[in-house]
Amino acid sequence: MDKILVLIYLISSVTFMLGLKMLSKPDSARKGNLIAAVGMVLAIFATIFLYTNSRGEHLGNLVWIFVALGIGTGIGWVMAKRVQMTAMPQMVSFFNGMGGACAALISIIEYNHLLHEVSGSMDASMTSKMIIILAGLVIGSVSFAGSIIAYGKLEGKINDYNLLGQQFVNIGLLLAIVVLSVLFYTGTVSGPLWFYIILGLSLLYGILFVFPIGGADMPVVISLLNSFTGVAAACGGFLYDNYVMLIGGILVGSAGTILTVAMCNAMNRSLLNVLVGNFGGSSAASGAASTTGGTSKEITKSDAAILMKYAKKVVIVPGYGLAVAQAQHTCHELENLLEAEGVDVKYAIHPVAGRMPGHMNVLLAESNVSYDKLVEMEDINPEFATTDVVLVVGANDVVNPAAKTDPSSPIFGMPILEVENSKNVIVMKRSMKAGYAGIDNALFYQPKTYMLFGDAKDTLTKLVNEVKSL
Ligand code: TAP
Repeated sequence: MDKILVLIYLISSVTFMLGLKMLSKPDSARKGNLIAAVGMVLAIFATIFLYTNSRGEHLGNLVWIFVALGIGTGIGWVMAKRVQMTAMPQMVSFFNGMGGACAALISIIEYNHLLHEVSGSMDASMTSKMIIILAGLVIGSVSFAGSIIAYGKLEGKINDYNLLGQQFVNIGLLLAIVVLSVLFYTGTVSGPLWFYIILGLSLLYGILFVFPIGGADMPVVISLLNSFTGVAAACGGFLYDNYVMLIGGILVGSAGTILTVAMCNAMNRSLLNVLVGNFGGSSAASGAASTTGGTSKEITKSDAAILMKYAKKVVIVPGYGLAVAQAQHTCHELENLLEAEGVDVKYAIHPVAGRMPGHMNVLLAESNVSYDKLVEMEDINPEFATTDVVLVVGANDVVNPAAKTDPSSPIFGMPILEVENSKNVIVMKRSMKAGYAGIDNALFYQPKTYMLFGDAKDTLTKLVNEVKSL
């Protein structure tokens, strides 16, 4: 039986890796998700029915297990069905928090088991178990508390706040957790009271660590917390000698870490800057900053429609405003209309456009835009020189030339979509306000740029009507 279980775990682990690989491309992502989910179901049922402990006993409490499975599946199903695309980051954060809580609970349960097993002093296997229990406890509870705060902030239920000397408090707390864990492991302090003090401090650290981070930086933090949950789950895999849990945890841990690094690189910011820096906070969201100055010129909807209808090539640059306005369907309608007129239409996808990884891909996929029309930044940049019209829909930072020209700019060094190389640029947004980074955009004042003010959905709807009436 053991061999069959190991074989199933192996198959499940392969499905996780295959699923992850397929998630990296929009056209295979759905199938990848499904394959990994099937692998997870296999692993869960194999554990329930085939696992035996050292005394050869199967798992008990099957009724409780299936009741919990049913409740969890029901809640997950309903949440996933109901969630709006724009609310995805908070849902991911919430589920991630649950993963962290599970890892911490495993540590609590295993600590209590260990307490019953230890009569005198601990043997070598017990001491190594204790390191893993403590690691799972600390990392899992930081991830749980941090993810729930991130969820609350993204839902608008919790505001950013910064205690005086917050970073020092956080560093002090972290040191206290590490020192206490070492003392606990070496036996200098012992007993359930100290164990639960470490748990309490870890929960507090998770809360305080996420509280001051700007709401818009949350995707980076969520991805970091995601990697924490992966590591905490891997600790559970060590504790139970469960290969699939170990491999699953390591995959989540490493994927989360890689995503965190990739997001920071795409924004040209260090992780430290995201965690303690000040751009991307609520002040940036208010978009008050304006330093570039100059005169911008507007274009009417009918002129914009003429410019696009008689163009050979139009590139649409979607950004956060497209998501806010939920204008993806209307955008696709405009694309279809222009294509029917013989215009070559493509979408330029910046890696950090919007507020979560793959945000634009997800939005456009929702409105059935063909995947081959979505062109990544490195591939579309050389094409702008031969583009007649670039239509920027609710994007700002990802087309800001300051990233290339102004060393004092907070986004200096961030790769951008070089739309200024095209013949005409139409920027669709509601005002001259800044985007996430809180900085003005020189693109808006360039001779070939035209501003088209208004809510993206409303303006696109009117543009569609104009194109139809031409
Ligand atoms: P932003 O720079 O945030 O600009 C979005 C623009 O959309 C705003 O200037 C806003 O101008 C406009 N807008 C908002 N609502 C609108 C609506 N209803 N209709 C029309 N326009 C609307 O967005 P971006 O260019 O996509 O860049 C993303 C930024 O987020 C980058 O700085 C990136 O580093 C950061 N970030 C991204 C991620 C990920 S993973 N994607 C994670 C964290 C941070 P008005 O107010 O004038 O309309």
